Amino acid sequence: VFNFLMKIENISFFDAAKRLAQKLNIPLPEREKSPREILRNQEMSGLFQVNEMASDFFHSCLLNTNYGKVAKEYLTSRGISQDMIEKFHLGFAPPSWDKLLSSFRQRGVSDELLLKAGLVVSRASEDGFYDRFRDRIMFPIADARGRVVGFGGRVMDDNQQPKYLNSPETILFNKRHILYGLDLAFKVIKETRQVIVVEGYMDVISAHQQGIVNTVASLGTAFTPEQARQVLKCQAEIVFAYDSDAAGQNATLRALATVRDLGAAVRVVSIPDGKDPDEFLNKHGASPFAELINRAPNLVDYQLNRLLEDEDYSSFQGKVAVVEKIVPILADVTNAVEANMYITRLSQTLGVDEAALRSEVRKYAAQLKKKMITGVNKGNRSVLGLPGQMLSKTAEAERQLIRLMCDDPATVPYVQTQVSADEFKDALRQEIVTTIYHYFSAGQTVVPSMVADRLNESANNEFSHIMLMELEYPDVVRLLDDCVKAIHLGHLKTLFEQHRLMADELQRLGDSRYLQELAESKRINDEINRMRLV
Ligand code: UTP
Ligand code: MN
Repeated sequence: VFNFLMKIENISFFDAAKRLAQKLNIPLPEREKSPREILRNQEMSGLFQVNEMASDFFHSCLLNTNYGKVAKEYLTSRGISQDMIEKFHLGFAPPSWDKLLSSFRQRGVSDELLLKAGLVVSRASEDGFYDRFRDRIMFPIADARGRVVGFGGRVMDDNQQPKYLNSPETILFNKRHILYGLDLAFKVIKETRQVIVVEGYMDVISAHQQGIVNTVASLGTAFTPEQARQVLKCQAEIVFAYDSDAAGQNATLRALATVRDLGAAVRVVSIPDGKDPDEFLNKHGASPFAELINRAPNLVDYQLNRLLEDEDYSSFQGKVAVVEKIVPILADVTNAVEANMYITRLSQTLGVDEAALRSEVRKYAAQLKKKMITGVNKGNRSVLGLPGQMLSKTAEAERQLIRLMCDDPATVPYVQTQVSADEFKDALRQEIVTTIYHYFSAGQTVVPSMVADRLNESANNEFSHIMLMELEYPDVVRLLDDCVKAIHLGHLKTLFEQHRLMADELQRLGDSRYLQELAESKRINDEINRMRLV
């Protein structure tokens, strides 16, 4: 009946159930939040609140107190305007062990909550707590919706360590997910379809002050797939403008490896004069910086430039070494015209035969393809760099089905009755589906970010691909059923292969059980043919 209604009315399983229940006058159980969920929600809103209060406290300490004066002077000396102090709600943590603690106690905030928020620290030798942030410039860190989830605090004297002290990880604050400034930059990123990713707080603030407002920071950590996903939702091109020191350049290379897997459009700025965007902007202003961005090379050009800079290709051995490193980069260029252009240019630069270079690239690409088909690289798409192309129909269906469940969690129960996780061919997608089913069985709604959190890195990569696929569903129910069917078919084909291979093997060994295997493979083949007819 559910299936019938879903098809005829073109509605989801959940709506079909609701409609039937209404018609038959059966009260439909509300999905109740589990006690744990309720507790967690309460805990989260408590933390948001205390963070907001702390943000105001630090801000007011900066602007309205005597000891805030040095901090204000420091910010001025760094060229930060009053407008930016307001926009980023910058603050100052007083040079005291308990200013925040005692002030918040007076306002009825429990020590426990302050501890959980990471605003105070337990004393080591005795009972009690002390303020985590002391005598530091405070940068509130907000999530994409502008809610304060943590803080960074900078010393004013560069000899002190650490330069920045950050909030510990809490249930709100996960560094892997946060892009500093995203709440302020989001709208413009969406409009311009471009995001500039820098390393630090100061870089973001300087950029915003100079009107480059599509700027965010990955806060010194490696750029993560979770961070990428947030900006790729806006279909934005990612421009990395990391520090020009060795650490920044290494961070760039790691970031590039991360986003390449996600099929993002990427360019890389090299800061020529000055260590970081903040310094460059202060020295030269906005338009030279914009010029750097406009002229920034794309991923392939950047990699090639670096390679040619780092390697000596004057000798014969040098040329061979460089070609070896260049070939995988070129094999990644899927546009044939573009690939050809690179090959011509590089053969001239290196002084090697163009046809030979072309043949090397072709050989490499063919090897990759073979590896992919034989599954040698299963679960490691990173070397392939061919997202979503060459996928089989089954693979496509597996991806679409996962995406459908995430976009419309009401479909999960239906899908669960139709396909089991082990019918998915791909191990990574099996893991994703298992996780989704698990959430549903535990009575929780399927939230993509929660699913992502539970996955290992390669499954998470696959999941990112899936969540970023361009999908249009003119007819959800039809698509759902098509996917289910394709997966069944794929699964049956695998089974068929297995039984047939087993039959061959047994027959060769003179084992009469081969007849059973043969019969089984025939039965499966019939089933496949029947399914194809429907
Ligand atoms: P930087 O050392 O480049 O700092 O670290 P910055 O942002 O340019 O600041 P200024 O110009 O020296 O004042 C980049 C980012 O790495 C993180 C911070 O998020 C910082 O913004 N970081 C750095 C830390 O978390 N802790 C540290 O001790 C240093
Ligand atoms: Mn800096």
